[in-house]
Amino acid sequence: MTLDRVTLDRVTPDHGDDGSSPVGPRLKVDIITIFPDYLAPLEMSLLGKARARGLVDVQVHDLRAWTSDVHRTVDDQPYGGGPGMVMRPEPWWAALTTVTGRARPDQAGSPERPRVIVPTPSGRPFTQSLAAELAAAPWLVFCCGRYEGIDSRVVEAWADDEVSIGDYVLSGGEVATLVMLEAVTRLVPGVVGNAESVVDDSFSHGLLEGPVYTRPVTWEGQDVPAILRSGDHGAIARWRRDEALRRTAHRRPDLLAGLTLSDADRQAIDSPARDAADRTSEPSTGSP
Ligand SMILES: C[S@@+](CC[C@H](N)C(=O)[O-])C[C@H]1O[C@@H](n2cnc3c(N)ncnc32)[C@H](O)[C@@H]1O
Repeated sequence: MTLDRVTLDRVTPDHGDDGSSPVGPRLKVDIITIFPDYLAPLEMSLLGKARARGLVDVQVHDLRAWTSDVHRTVDDQPYGGGPGMVMRPEPWWAALTTVTGRARPDQAGSPERPRVIVPTPSGRPFTQSLAAELAAAPWLVFCCGRYEGIDSRVVEAWADDEVSIGDYVLSGGEVATLVMLEAVTRLVPGVVGNAESVVDDSFSHGLLEGPVYTRPVTWEGQDVPAILRSGDHGAIARWRRDEALRRTAHRRPDLLAGLTLSDADRQAIDSPARDAADRTSEPSTGSP
């Protein structure tokens, strides 16, 4: 794979007969990084297929293409001293100007304006609702920091969102971008074959998903719950909600606080859970 600017293929939309391919990509994504190869997983699995079908257009850009010195330098010492290096503003400014097609970052309001996202541990937490918000945007640009991060003047001028994927520190923004894109793109219509599986995912209704099973019906002395084999769709739906409620109450009680619960929901929470992990140990008292 070449390390120069656009490194992952632009895929021409395939207007197949299956109705799944749109007229153009539903989501356009640009990623700026000093390690384009780190983004290779974008060619795999559901996202790789979505790109091949023209649903999502992903382009990865090597930040060093916007350096002008022989060493292709992107970092320098921090003002004020201290350990580590900081990413210089010049290549980032030039890269963002080219990638977004904007001469100045304050040219808001244009329909062509992308949403610029800077992954950082000090950003707002990445959640399923933010994933849904980003999935509805036509164009996202991710800026992958390294070292101690990107010069703050670039972030202040260009970032629409600074986003954290959790309370820990990674070495760079590439994995954070992969995490966000995996969550965002599965919400783009057509990317996941069965749209209902996305609707039922954990967090979509504010609850964790309950236990799931497949064949064989008996495994290591444990049976699949009879109700799931009953064919009674109403009873199955109630059982699934009850298990989701019990699991959420046990593992993430903080999530329940934001929900309006019916009497049936409250009864479900008070009755024993199916899953051993949710039955035996002490309930969690807060966020994990
Ligand atoms: C070593 S980190 C810099 C950490 C920075 N000095 C701080 O303490 O906030 C380098 C880059 O990794 C990315 N990164 C690290 N942890 C992250 C997280 N939890 N969420 C999103 N991005 C993260 C960011 O792009 C960051 O600029």
